[in-house]
Amino acid sequence: MALFCFVVPLFSGGCRALRRQLAGWVAGRRHSAGQAPDWDRVAFAFQLVRDEYGESIEDGDFSRIPEMAAVLDSGRAALGRLTRETLRFDSALEEMKGRILRHEPPWVIGKMSVRLLADLEKSGRLSRRPPAVPDLRRGGALHAVACAPCHGHPHGPLPPAAAHMTPRPPDASATLRTPYELFNRITYGGAGTPMPSFADTLPESDRWDIAFYLFAAQWPPCATNALPTLSASELAYLSDYNLWQRYGWGAAACLRRNIR
Ligand code: HEC
Repeated sequence: MALFCFVVPLFSGGCRALRRQLAGWVAGRRHSAGQAPDWDRVAFAFQLVRDEYGESIEDGDFSRIPEMAAVLDSGRAALGRLTRETLRFDSALEEMKGRILRHEPPWVIGKMSVRLLADLEKSGRLSRRPPAVPDLRRGGALHAVACAPCHGHPHGPLPPAAAHMTPRPPDASATLRTPYELFNRITYGGAGTPMPSFADTLPESDRWDIAFYLFAAQWPPCATNALPTLSASELAYLSDYNLWQRYGWGAAACLRRNIR
């Protein structure tokens, strides 16, 4: 098979995986062959492009697009050995990279990343879960130290330091869609922006505490005990919009605080 692929490299679609694999080895970016894919890293790549690409195009700031392309590359590297299962996402990441480097319209890229992220979520491959019930008080204390110097406190103004950053940090009400996505953003940081990665500086449980704290802090205090208590792993993947649809407007104030 391998020899065949080199003799007729252009005509054989079946050789694609092998050639990609080799290219990856050459670039030294692939996981070792036995390593399981890191699907959360892949999800983050789609998530980041979904959130940041449109903004860069609208701002006319193309300087961050190569950084986003690098995040898509790290998503490919995180797939490890190419199998039938990983190949689809490998191709999608490569295709998306080509499209953003050609500055294709944000709605095209947005639609593509939303679809791929939803596919990953539905497939049950995303594995990150809070290891214990998040400690919201601890999350608040950590946020004050690790995040507030750039983002300010929830419902508060941006700190003066924010004015000197490009792009500017959004205020602390920018929580992303789900705690899972926020956890990812805290873990991996921004693409060529001042937003740091906290993968090495905060343990995983601290990152979950902050993510859950920020989601709770968007809401006024819980005023009823008539609502169910959801598990942290379920809540991690539910947006406030999902909670609203299922439990009514404002239910998130309690659901985001009373967690089992
Ligand atoms: C050194 C300053 C700095 C620190 C510290 C920092 N951030 Fe950021 N953050 C930024 C900047 C600048 C951006 C905007 C650029 C970007 O999206 O990467 C940003 C973006 C974000 C976004 C994306 C918002 C959106 O709507 O797309 C989230 C969420 C976020 N930060 C959360 C956090 C959390 C939580 C912490 C603490 C664990 C934190 N940040 C620490 C500077 C910082």
